[in-house]
Amino acid sequence: MNSTAEIGQSVAIDHDPAQLKATLAAFKRAYPSFDTTQLLADLREREYARLDELDQVYLDYTGGGLFADSQLREHMDLLRNNVFGNPHSNNPTSLAMTRLVEQTRAYIGQYFKAHPDEYVVIFTPNASGALKHVAESYPFEAGGRYLLTFDNHNSVNGIREYARAKGAKVDYVPLTQPDLRMDLDKLAESLDRAQPGKHNLFAYPAQSNFSGVQHPLELIGRAREKGWDVLVDCAAFAPTNRLDLSRWLPDFVSLSFYKMFGYPTGIGCLLARKSALAKLRRPWFAGGTIVLASVQGQGHHLADNEAAFEDGTVDYLNIPAVEIGLRHLEAINVDLIHERVRCLTGWLLDSLLALRHRNGRPLVRIYGPTNLHMRGGTLTVNLYDPDEKMFDYRRVEELANEVNISLRTGCFCNPGANEIAEGLTEEDIAEGFKGGRRTAFPSFLSIIEHKTGKSAGAIRVSVGMVTNFADVFRLMQFVRTFLDKSSEKIGDVTFDIETCRVIRDGS
Ligand SMILES: Cc1ncc(COP(=O)(O)O)c(C=O)c1O
Repeated sequence: MNSTAEIGQSVAIDHDPAQLKATLAAFKRAYPSFDTTQLLADLREREYARLDELDQVYLDYTGGGLFADSQLREHMDLLRNNVFGNPHSNNPTSLAMTRLVEQTRAYIGQYFKAHPDEYVVIFTPNASGALKHVAESYPFEAGGRYLLTFDNHNSVNGIREYARAKGAKVDYVPLTQPDLRMDLDKLAESLDRAQPGKHNLFAYPAQSNFSGVQHPLELIGRAREKGWDVLVDCAAFAPTNRLDLSRWLPDFVSLSFYKMFGYPTGIGCLLARKSALAKLRRPWFAGGTIVLASVQGQGHHLADNEAAFEDGTVDYLNIPAVEIGLRHLEAINVDLIHERVRCLTGWLLDSLLALRHRNGRPLVRIYGPTNLHMRGGTLTVNLYDPDEKMFDYRRVEELANEVNISLRTGCFCNPGANEIAEGLTEEDIAEGFKGGRRTAFPSFLSIIEHKTGKSAGAIRVSVGMVTNFADVFRLMQFVRTFLDKSSEKIGDVTFDIETCRVIRDGS
């Protein structure tokens, strides 16, 4: 039986079970290894039933992962059946908590094969918190360097402000078009410019949160040999890929756990090599970070290792839920998740690229790699009408909302990848900044769009641990509804974005 749901005023989506079945069969022929990931389909039915019960198509795994019901149950049972106090005191409830916090810390190290003789695990509120530690404590200095790729989250871009303030030279490694991979020739030239005797830091993401590109982990060793400390942002990589630190040995790694397994939010970590951590100089001290502080003596002695970086009380009741989440991932096997994501991403790429208007023009432009080589399950696109005019991505999101599809739009806090993808030049960007200090994202977008005809934002689809074929099929059904439509015919956007935060009236 066919049913049709109206989207907004102008778009309609078909739900045809027979078509879904036939398409699934063709998909499985094209991606036979998908069947080896059946465990994840079963897990979704058992542990993530709320997705189907609430009819939600969740396609924002790069924004945040989803948790299994069992993670919540296990964590709540732990809290209900114990009495926990603030850690690091000598009473029984505190000691019980300290034991669990330290057990989780050890488990994180074990999960990432970060040997305790080599690495320290520092709890932070999120990946940005981990990056901020490096930002404010790395010994940037005149003559030293901070090298980073265009393709970085703003929390890595932001480190440049500390580097500049302390007189270090900041350089960006460009990306190549159209694949949005690091320009390896330019990188080699930049790596040759490490200043001997000075501190040089190189930062890049293991996986782009914009294009899904996986930048090679081999660059860690190459950069270190040339005199760089290396920071690898693994926030978008770790949820669907194995990260073996005993093999790659980066100096610093940043992560957010909610991206890996959905719960708890509010905890990330900085994995730091002891040798690199010893270089960091904290600009302040706080409760819990010192072994001695005096008011009259105006002095303090910082504690060693992680203790020097965990300001105040850690999120102690939630920390054990990180071990529960990691065990959940381990029981599934992250390689299986990787394979499922690979198959679904491949099908999405093939299907999106095949969409053409009646006049033969493509509906979809994909930013970054259009094949599966060295990429993860994040696809960033824009949609164009038969006259090659872009559909407003915010309106596309709004229409997706009406059929319960969760996408993400904007620049995803990764402006550099977006600028290169759209071919925006320094002059174009300068136009956008002319509005002055208070220019917010929407006005920046409209200035750039008006002046250059280029877009400063896009639509991001990301698949993850429990995405199934029905999810991506429904997305494709939705995208198809834009075929042969004019960009003027899909209605106006009714929400605004300020500093990457969606603002709705009354919210
Ligand atoms: C690659 C990457 N790095 C860093 C971050 C920042 O993570 P958080 O917002 O959890 O601090 C994100 C978040 O989307 C990300 O995708």
